[in-house]
Amino acid sequence: MILGIGTGSTVNLLIDLIKSRKIQLEGAVSSSRQSSERLTAAGIEVLDLNFAGPLSLYIDGADEATLGGDLIKGGGAALTREKVIAAASAKFVCIIDDSKLVEVLGKFPLPVEIIPMARSHVARQIVALGGQPVYREGVVTDNGNVILDVHHISLKRPQHMEATINSIAGVVTVGLFAQRGADVLVIATDEGVKTKILSRASNFESGSDFDHTIGR
Ligand code: A5P
Repeated sequence: MILGIGTGSTVNLLIDLIKSRKIQLEGAVSSSRQSSERLTAAGIEVLDLNFAGPLSLYIDGADEATLGGDLIKGGGAALTREKVIAAASAKFVCIIDDSKLVEVLGKFPLPVEIIPMARSHVARQIVALGGQPVYREGVVTDNGNVILDVHHISLKRPQHMEATINSIAGVVTVGLFAQRGADVLVIATDEGVKTKILSRASNFESGSDFDHTIGR
């Protein structure tokens, strides 16, 4: 298969595992230069999404997650490509440890990728929404843009806030993944790895609590 691959320290471990277990892939679509380099070093061909077509599976980490599958992503500044690959994939499996689980998103500052000339304008609009934007100094995304990290913004209605921030002129993507969140959460805990299958995953049956626990 062609696998969609995200970005971050958790995904790095996944790439290492694919290599060490000699899992055969036709190739991977990568969400960042960082992951592409690691994939290439692992002998996995990196493919262009434009030619790979719709993907069956995307695996990525997150900075924060609810048990409903809503996510904050973008701590590694790869949010836009991550959102594109998630949208192009039939199934999104999110791999986290339980320190990332929250009841309501928003303790982790919300990353927003913006085109550089819109920085002040977007910051003012975000202040009007009740957030405190902080410019991520020295960071340029793989798309040549900049990041504002938004503190203290209410994310009680994440889908609504995702649409609101995405509609500000100059915003490329907000790192809220609620309109297209995770289909499956794979959560490392002290008791082992727990899997939560969300009802939005059409070809899975959803459980009321954790669906599987794999002991350590
Ligand atoms: C990258 O931009 C992020 O969305 C990552 O998926 C997120 O930061 C998780 O990274 P870690 O696995 O390093 O915590």
